[in-house]
Amino acid sequence: MTTLIKNGTLVSATGRHAAEVLVDGTTIAAVLQPGSTLAVSAESGAERVIDATGKYVVPGGIDCHTHMELPFGGTFASDTFEIGTRAAAWGGTTTIVDFAVQKTGENVRDSLEAWHAKAEGQCAIDYAFHMIMGGVDEAALKEMDSLVAEGITSFKLFMAYPGVFYSDDGQILRAMQKAANNGALISMHAENGIAIDVLAEQAAARGQTDPVYHGITRPSRLEGEATNRAIQLALVAGAPVYFVHLSSSEALERVAEARNDGHNVFAETCPQYLYLNLEDHLGAPGFAGAGYVCSPPLRTREHTHHRDLWKGLRTNDLAVVATDHCPFCMKDQKELGRDDFRAIPNGIGGVEHRMDLIYQGVVMGELTLERWVETCSTTPARMFGMYPQKGVIAPGSDADIVLYDPDATTEISVDTHHMSMDYSAYEGITIDGRVDTVMSKGRILISDDAYHGEKGHGVYLRRGLSTYLQ
Ligand code: URP
Ligand code: ZN
Ligand code: ZN
Repeated sequence: MTTLIKNGTLVSATGRHAAEVLVDGTTIAAVLQPGSTLAVSAESGAERVIDATGKYVVPGGIDCHTHMELPFGGTFASDTFEIGTRAAAWGGTTTIVDFAVQKTGENVRDSLEAWHAKAEGQCAIDYAFHMIMGGVDEAALKEMDSLVAEGITSFKLFMAYPGVFYSDDGQILRAMQKAANNGALISMHAENGIAIDVLAEQAAARGQTDPVYHGITRPSRLEGEATNRAIQLALVAGAPVYFVHLSSSEALERVAEARNDGHNVFAETCPQYLYLNLEDHLGAPGFAGAGYVCSPPLRTREHTHHRDLWKGLRTNDLAVVATDHCPFCMKDQKELGRDDFRAIPNGIGGVEHRMDLIYQGVVMGELTLERWVETCSTTPARMFGMYPQKGVIAPGSDADIVLYDPDATTEISVDTHHMSMDYSAYEGITIDGRVDTVMSKGRILISDDAYHGEKGHGVYLRRGLSTYLQ
């Protein structure tokens, strides 16, 4: 089918202009000047014409950090690939990169196959995988080469969660040396988990078991320290490093210093660190704070007030916004830690709200429209080897397109979201904009406030190497 999207303002990472977009089948056939002979003839031949008057026409969002069905603390993240990718589509995200999980003691290959089995045939939008390496040994290091050839070109290591996902400095160095060799990108969860476990045990022994102690026992200094250590290890190995879910000014300073010195050090942040804080959310009365337990934790109100992370997004020291979507319900899941914050499963769901929450940054004057597109779509595509198939509206690219309405509003609420969560971390936040229409590979998934997609439409993407490193 051919579709012409007309009368809209096309926004890319580099600019905005009036343009018409011709879609043929699953890909973009042409970007045309309105009123040109080509545009007039495209309209007369198009089987479907979409009027985007007053709307921004942007490349579909790419959320490069999700955890569908992640096993954590004796339970599983509550979104399946089916539910989570449908919710993503509602929010204008047309690609996710999820984390396949190798836990300490498990085999990488078996773990990956299990992840493929969970996702295949279930997704509303295209999906790819990073590999979590929870046990860097000789076999796992060898497997990294074959995984790169299969399109898994990034590997997450954890300096946190001893006994579950944790890698020591020697394991990190070995994996980085391998990445330096095969072109992969090491993603790092940078928190000093050994020190955190001591602080958490001491707090619990004092009877400090409320959710807020999850944050108090994970000080931002220990994210800064781990970030610096990972950068030094990367420099020794001659490898690039990408910091996931960066939450603190201390960590951002370390990243900025390394980048100023010319090193291939990259970072992402997440909406929860831009909008939520330790006192008001993690420290909410009763057990409500459990809904805000994630790692790294929400930082203090003062920390958030400095708006350092927004600044980092402007300066590109933070290159990407991802969600770290890892939803759990309060009932039966977060409740596992009612008597001890250490047993609360870590994670916040938000795959549906990222495009809206970062668009609100444009409304607030924190980012330009172009930077919104760049941090939420174009850079994730380039960082993780999906560009130009994804992340751009250009001839030959997949027709993953969002029409965004700056004159409508979105009220975030558990009553209206599409994620499998019995609360919303962003309850009551109003966005001065709204996802209007979502197209994935030429197919309309969202229009007129209704979902028209189906599971299995989304397929597995074999990724290439990061274009930031070639
Ligand atoms: O709290 C979080 N972030 N849960 C998901 C696992 C991770 O560390 O990304
Ligand atoms: Zn992490
Ligand atoms: Zn994560």
